[in-house]
Amino acid sequence: MEFPDQIAKKAKIRDTMALIKNKFLVLSGKGGVGKSTVAVHLSVALSERGFLTGLLDIDLHGPSIPKMMGLSGQKIAAEGGLLKPLTYNENLRAVSMASILDDQETAVIWRGPRKGGAIRQLLGDVFWGPLDFLVIDAPPGTGDESLSIAQLIPDVRAIVVTTPQQVAIQDVRRSLQFLDKVSLVIVGVIENMSGLICPHCRQEIDLFKQGGGEALAREWGVPFLGKIPLDPNLVSEADAGRPYFKGHEGSAVVQAFNRIVDEVIRQSRL
Ligand SMILES: Nc1ncnc2c1ncn2[C@@H]1O[C@H](COP(=O)(O)OP(=O)(O)OP(=O)(O)O)[C@@H](O)[C@H]1O
Ligand SMILES: [Mg+2]
Ligand SMILES: [Zn+2]
Repeated sequence: MEFPDQIAKKAKIRDTMALIKNKFLVLSGKGGVGKSTVAVHLSVALSERGFLTGLLDIDLHGPSIPKMMGLSGQKIAAEGGLLKPLTYNENLRAVSMASILDDQETAVIWRGPRKGGAIRQLLGDVFWGPLDFLVIDAPPGTGDESLSIAQLIPDVRAIVVTTPQQVAIQDVRRSLQFLDKVSLVIVGVIENMSGLICPHCRQEIDLFKQGGGEALAREWGVPFLGKIPLDPNLVSEADAGRPYFKGHEGSAVVQAFNRIVDEVIRQSRL
């Protein structure tokens, strides 16, 4: 049985989502593979191509989006019961729990059953207005958060991030099984940290065996969106809160992201 306030909350989510043309959940069975990095760079690239984009960080335990975008410290205020996203640029807005609550409050909310309520609130109470894209950055694994998203946004589609190592591939295979079970459409698989760009000569070094992500995509019959090399510059830029595009246009990482963005746009309804 559903209570009237739950029905009202679901209606609010439906109304908010109805104004957004394409929704993506960036996820992976494994932590630290670059989900947030992919979510940020995909969002920034889409916004720079002129698309109205929203980036929603639902990682409640380790929200990293505000830091990567240079937005940490800014707080989101509720206006008339609605949350106004932070502005990154003219076309890109972002929301993270880290921008709404302080660390102590976050620790309390994210325990157990209140998680689902918090996700519903993030989906229903943020005023995005009309958007071309909403990119949702999931926490590692296929926990409550991803399940809530799958249930609350029927037309959300998944972008799966992996690294080439077998351990990651194993975990990511489990995410693909999860996506199958909840009938989520998969936009494709991205293999991140695929090869290393040498900081000295900028040549690519085949650090881990490459191609695991591509093989996995083939095995599941889903598109392979592309490989992104490991680039030490990306880490320092992320730590400085600067997404890695300006001044790095020719780099292998930026070129890889651009190809991925082309494919994502090709698969989108605009
Ligand atoms: N292609 C890359 N080259 C270099 N560093 C990278 C690359 N991708 C991600 N990183 C770095 O790896 C670290 C982990 O990345 P990120 O936070 O995006 O992973 P995540 O999957 O979101 O992690 P979590 O599971 O904790 O949410 C970060 O320091 C990030 O800057
Ligand atoms: Mg993350
Ligand atoms: Zn070198």
